Amino acid sequence: MKKLRLGIDGPKVSALCLGTMYFGNRIDRNTSYDLLDQYAAAGGSFLDTANNYAAWVPGFEGGESEILLGQWLRDRQNREGMFIATKSGFGYAGVTPGLNAEQIEKECENSLRRLGIETIDLYYSHWDDRDISIEERMKAYENLVNKGKIRYVGASNHRAWRMEEARILCQSQNLPAYCCIQQRFTYLHPAPGVNFHPQVAANDDLIDFCRNREVTLLAYTPLLKGSYSRTDRPLPETYKSPTNDIRLATLKSVAADMGVMENQLVLAWLLQQDPPVIPVVGASNRAQLSENLAGLDIRLSVDQLEKLKCVGTVKVF
Ligand SMILES: NC(=O)c1ccc[n+]([C@@H]2O[C@H](COP(=O)([O-])OP(=O)(O)OC[C@H]3O[C@@H](n4cnc5c(N)ncnc54)[C@H](OP(=O)(O)O)[C@@H]3O)[C@@H](O)[C@H]2O)c1
Repeated sequence: MKKLRLGIDGPKVSALCLGTMYFGNRIDRNTSYDLLDQYAAAGGSFLDTANNYAAWVPGFEGGESEILLGQWLRDRQNREGMFIATKSGFGYAGVTPGLNAEQIEKECENSLRRLGIETIDLYYSHWDDRDISIEERMKAYENLVNKGKIRYVGASNHRAWRMEEARILCQSQNLPAYCCIQQRFTYLHPAPGVNFHPQVAANDDLIDFCRNREVTLLAYTPLLKGSYSRTDRPLPETYKSPTNDIRLATLKSVAADMGVMENQLVLAWLLQQDPPVIPVVGASNRAQLSENLAGLDIRLSVDQLEKLKCVGTVKVF
């Protein structure tokens, strides 16, 4: 699978990141193993999880996704070939939300224990805890890098100005900086006025920041849970707008011309932005994952990319 660099001088990672939020909880162990095997067989090595996945699923308390990944890495003896990203910041099972230095250190240890690994490849701030100074947070990550507990740092659900604040601080104090930001992002734009709190959607400012500061944008929920192509899953209300009516019609027309699924086209579109946006994509069965992986092979022409720009305020330049 093609690889892309995170940030200016970060590691090279698989162009399609596999989201494992529901592995080991809503998606049972056998199916989760099957999907991980399928992704690895396709050459994929970039796995995304978090300490709290998936505390909101009835019957689970969080940590199950990391535990499942850890078991799979041990059973397959392939930790060296994989790039493991996890996050902390949200609360779950007796863990209070927050990103003070003590919480970061403690949750890093908890994730390492559940994953059964010595070093987390990419460690995200899962949200922007504004009660803690960015300095305290980034120094906590520096400490973890120095101890060999984490390799790179990423952010998620942050505004552009906060990313710039963190970048300037890290530059001036020679601290490890955020090499990437994982945000809600897809081909359609959130309807005007929608607030996804605590999630944050990518906007013009963030895209502009990423491009000019060479911080990689990763898109979560890129497929809107498959609703681009699925007849059993209507488009979320939060994405209904006159602008999106036009964008969706354009997407469907380009997909029909190319003989591909709309879901696949969205993944290809993300990867063919300049700079590319890495999709963090979920799947709950082999057919879905095959379809998503095949999206990597779709090449859009300049004309098709131009057509897909159509209308809207969120521009990927
Ligand atoms: N940083 C954050 O705050 C944050 C937030 C959310 C997610 N994430 C990460 O992003 C990953 C993906 O998020 P997501 O699950 O919300 O996004 P998604 O990739 O848009 O949705 C995945 C779901 O879409 C359906 N699907 C996937 N491929 C399909 C296909 N080819 N055809 C039809 N349906 C398809 C499946 O739903 P069914 O299972 O219902 O069939 C699948 O579970 C997560 O696993 C997690 O790692 C991060």
